[in-house]
Amino acid sequence: MQKDDNIAIFTMENSQKLADEIGKYLKREVKKVNKIVFADGERMLYPNETVRNKTVFIINNTSKPVNDNLMDLLIFIDSLKRASAKRIICVTTYYGYARQDRMASGRQPITAKLVADLLEKAGASKIITLDLHNASIQGFFNIPVDDLRGQFIFSNEFRLRSDKYVIVSPDHGGAVRARQLSELLKNEEPIAIIDKRRTAPNVSEIMGVLGDVKDKNVIVYDDIIDTGGTIIHAAEVLKKQGAKKIIIAATHGLFSKGFDMFENNPIIDEVIITNSIDHSDLSHFKKLRELSMAEFLGLVIEANINNSSIGKIYEDYSKGRV
Ligand code: R5P
Repeated sequence: MQKDDNIAIFTMENSQKLADEIGKYLKREVKKVNKIVFADGERMLYPNETVRNKTVFIINNTSKPVNDNLMDLLIFIDSLKRASAKRIICVTTYYGYARQDRMASGRQPITAKLVADLLEKAGASKIITLDLHNASIQGFFNIPVDDLRGQFIFSNEFRLRSDKYVIVSPDHGGAVRARQLSELLKNEEPIAIIDKRRTAPNVSEIMGVLGDVKDKNVIVYDDIIDTGGTIIHAAEVLKKQGAKKIIIAATHGLFSKGFDMFENNPIIDEVIITNSIDHSDLSHFKKLRELSMAEFLGLVIEANINNSSIGKIYEDYSKGRV
């Protein structure tokens, strides 16, 4: 449906499914981006209608292939800026390159900051995103960032279940996230934290578990599943320590090494992720459950259109809106 209010919503190709759901919720048309790929791999992306003086939302995610998706986004933002869009709001459901958020050792880059600079330089006016790997990345931008909390979606899911769970963070960095989920669930169990250290990129070693999981159902809750190494390793350690049911929950399911390692692993009961990244190719797996962010993002986009606060949305969700 087309509303005449100087708003345009576009979607990048890899976010089409989620964008369609958001469009349905908002009763607004979601437009496709024109894209030309030249023989040498260069790309050209642009809107096929005027955006002059409009507030433009771009639904996108910079999951794999991260470099192509990021470059596409930057080029499209540039085209909107040059076509005189009034505001360009990136609804970036997964912000790639976020894990390089500090110099973990000498001479390393900080790509989370570099990407923030690139988006701003290209012309983004605001970023709406979901569970940034590190909330401090908000401060890498000089434009507003709505870093939405996936816990509200997960808590609505777990609130409906009769089992009680200990929420486990697979590393120290995720402890706050686990605590917030536990609080939203009004969970009386203490959280547990896996004492993990990273020995190389995508390789980790578990030193121990802080907290008691013996004879408890657990939810291992992380922001990203990439290769799956971190979370499967965590599940194995928890099982050895006597955990009963093991549910894995993560906002962003990259599954760079596929899903078989979860599906065929007898200690894992279920894997729950959001649709921040499209998983249509994994829909046949029985243990995978996807929670839709469409309504939540639709409400946030609506709040941005109406200049209203998103605090009210959080409030509704924390009361159990589903
Ligand atoms: C790391 O700090 C993140 O929160 C995730 O735990 C990590 O990115 C997962 O990666 P992988 O699945 O490759 O172990």
